[in-house]
Amino acid sequence: MIHTVDRDSRTITVSANVHAASRRRTSLIGAALLIGIAASASAADHPGPAAVAQIVHARQDHFHALGKATKSLREQIGRANPDWTLVAADANQIEHLAAALPTWFPAGSGQGHGIKTKARAKIWAQPQAFASAAKTLAARAQDLAQTVASHDPGALRLRARALGQACGSCHHRFRAHSSWW
Ligand code: HEC
Repeated sequence: MIHTVDRDSRTITVSANVHAASRRRTSLIGAALLIGIAASASAADHPGPAAVAQIVHARQDHFHALGKATKSLREQIGRANPDWTLVAADANQIEHLAAALPTWFPAGSGQGHGIKTKARAKIWAQPQAFASAAKTLAARAQDLAQTVASHDPGALRLRARALGQACGSCHHRFRAHSSWW
């Protein structure tokens, strides 16, 4: 919160100075409009620290849910008598989370903003490669979900392995080994 206030007052100060330099007699309304525009433009380009924290924490919550559902599904399909209701719920959740994954990485939510995250700068530097890694996951999650109805543990284990490879491949390229601020 304090950071946001600092950032906003900095934006306001800069805008006000520029404005004062270019036009001596500025109406307060004009200045207020300019400040409003500057503030909203900077918020759109780079979310402030409070917004970054919110985005990163939500992203990590989503990933933890994805990890939990994947672990639960793997456990079930490794059993002699899987709980098919649970397998279906897990597969469904994995499919939905995988489809939403690309929306968890807005520009400016990487490292270097004072929030601990493992999201590497490469995600935004190589957007096509990242999008394709996310697409592979979504496709494999869909295959997995569609195989559940077969109640065939062997086929599901193959799908789960393919899914796991999509997780690992993206982590290898786009997730840092440790969190940086
Ligand atoms: C397209 C890339 C991508 C794919 C695919 C992907 N992840 Fe991740 N994952 C990441 C990134 C990047 C982070 C770090 C997020 C952060 O710290 O802000 C992460 C973080 C996580 C975390 C949080 C713990 C940690 O070490 O940061 C878990 C758990 C996780 N992923 C599980 C999975 C599982 C399970 C799958 C597959 C079902 C998967 N991920 C697929 C990119 C991906």
